[in-house]
Amino acid sequence: MAQLDPHSYFDTTQPVSRHLYFKWFVDFDRRRIDGSVAIELAEPSAGCLDLDTKGIEIHSVRTQAGAAVPWQLGSPDAILGSRLRLDLPEGTTSLTIHYASSPEAVALQWFAPEMTLGKRHPFMYSQCQAIHARTIVPCQDTPRVRIRYSAAVTVPEKLTAVMSAGPAGDRPGEKPGTRTFLFEMPQAIPPYLLAVAAGDLESRDFSPRARVWAEPEMVEKAAYEFGEVEQMIETAEELFGPYEWDRYDMLVLPPAFPFGGMENPRMTFLTPTVLAGDRSLVDVIAHELAHSWTGNLVTNATMEHFWLNEGFTTWAERQILDALHGEAASALRWAIGQKSLDESMARFGIDSPVTKLRTDLRGVDPDDVFSSIPYEKGARFVTAIERHIGHKRFVEFMRKYIGAFRFTSITSEEFIDFLEQELPGTAAAVNANAWLYETGMPPNAPVFRSDELDALVAAAAAFAGGLRPAPQQIAGWDSGRLLVFLQHLPRQLNRESLDWLDGNFNLTPRGNFEILAEWLAIALASDYEPVFERARRMLLEVGRMKFLRPLYSAMGSHPRTRALAKEIYAEAKAGYHSLSRRVVESAMETYDE
Ligand code: BES
Ligand code: ZN
Repeated sequence: MAQLDPHSYFDTTQPVSRHLYFKWFVDFDRRRIDGSVAIELAEPSAGCLDLDTKGIEIHSVRTQAGAAVPWQLGSPDAILGSRLRLDLPEGTTSLTIHYASSPEAVALQWFAPEMTLGKRHPFMYSQCQAIHARTIVPCQDTPRVRIRYSAAVTVPEKLTAVMSAGPAGDRPGEKPGTRTFLFEMPQAIPPYLLAVAAGDLESRDFSPRARVWAEPEMVEKAAYEFGEVEQMIETAEELFGPYEWDRYDMLVLPPAFPFGGMENPRMTFLTPTVLAGDRSLVDVIAHELAHSWTGNLVTNATMEHFWLNEGFTTWAERQILDALHGEAASALRWAIGQKSLDESMARFGIDSPVTKLRTDLRGVDPDDVFSSIPYEKGARFVTAIERHIGHKRFVEFMRKYIGAFRFTSITSEEFIDFLEQELPGTAAAVNANAWLYETGMPPNAPVFRSDELDALVAAAAAFAGGLRPAPQQIAGWDSGRLLVFLQHLPRQLNRESLDWLDGNFNLTPRGNFEILAEWLAIALASDYEPVFERARRMLLEVGRMKFLRPLYSAMGSHPRTRALAKEIYAEAKAGYHSLSRRVVESAMETYDE
């Protein structure tokens, strides 16, 4: 018995799944997926097969020949869920499980029509990373096992279904008033990249291989915002080699989506909070697109090596933006990342084991330790290597790395071995061991600076000392620069300073959620009443965890804002994803009464 992934019952001595065939009925009334999965095995097998499940109701298990397969569902573990142990008869090549997901399945969020923009049709989507695929399908839910899939997804007939797969047509469903959408995913993916969504969707094409899907009310805005996507794909291809996934489509989700984006192959899922109207928040697109190489082609073997996905992708995202938008703003992008790194380090403590890049997550729920550390510390480690060997050689190395490990899932140690093989001595020279196995930041962490960044930081420091930036200085600030300035201000300010900021930057009415959230965090922590209604409106609409944590935390500073937070949360809770609820509740736990 060898269980190599602490978050899965997968046992390396057992048969492995190769291809999954889904037949799903999306039941909006009961908020569940009802149907079957046929699991094709890599070779004819017999005996014990353990699958991951969480909250799933098993109806039957049969072999390709129709023979009943004895099964047993283990007692549920709070993190892993229940092990489904099957006893396969001799010569099993495929088994079909009829099942239904639970209305509490963490991977799914359901919206009644009144919770959508159009208010006429329901909406649902999945979010499987890190370990929630098992709440919608019994499977070997570890990135160590890659699967291809085919799917027939039946939804109410006015809706469109999309998946992280190639569309393969649609037809009337068996039941009247339904439609069945077909999908084929010929490339092997880790189960966390399985994704489905259904709603009243419309699309706009950007190029022969890229389009965006959104509710009709939002689709034009999205079509403008993501207009650079084809250039982004081309820029990324120059860096990392050909785009291997055929199409790059995007889906704009309701604002309750707990993340900024999710790199579901062929169909990136996105928060509508990136629709600023001026393309200023497309770093999220660059990021999710970059995962097409780092993450989706070369995948972390387990969540203990998550930095391999996010660190490389964060580095890649900034390479793409530098190439496309110029290097002048590069230091500003890294400074924004540094702020979230500092916040995460402070939240866990710089001595916390989760500040290591290579983590030990036995008994730890990945959702509980999600932070910017694998992203920003990871990207800085990548930069340390890049700076040591030089940009050009590093890009060559990246192409070799991706070529060597494409469609596989690897550990931090395998990465270091490859680095040593290709560029002997580099790991020691950059002190890779400290980056991977030690807490906090190593002394050789790269520094990113520019005169412009220095000036913005200085302006923020001067502001704290009572000096106001001059109008001609402010005039040159776009939203990215304003964000850097705001991020360097003290977290609490007096009334006069807050009035000045709001008056001069017109912050409270902003539609750019990065600016708005940064402003509201300061204003709420300062008990600044003029923003209370705006904060309420934002928090009733947006469920993105990146914004919820700082805003609900900021409201902990004063009795009045604590009361406001409780009032808002009581109303907003029903519309939040279960992951978002956990984040808010943990932020509110720190309120001292
Ligand atoms: N893969 C992540 C999102 C994720 C990670 C979901 C772990 C569940 C578990 C995605 O690529 C991501 O990093 N999104 C960021 C985008 C940002 C860094 C540009 C986000 O959601 O904020
Ligand atoms: Zn990512």
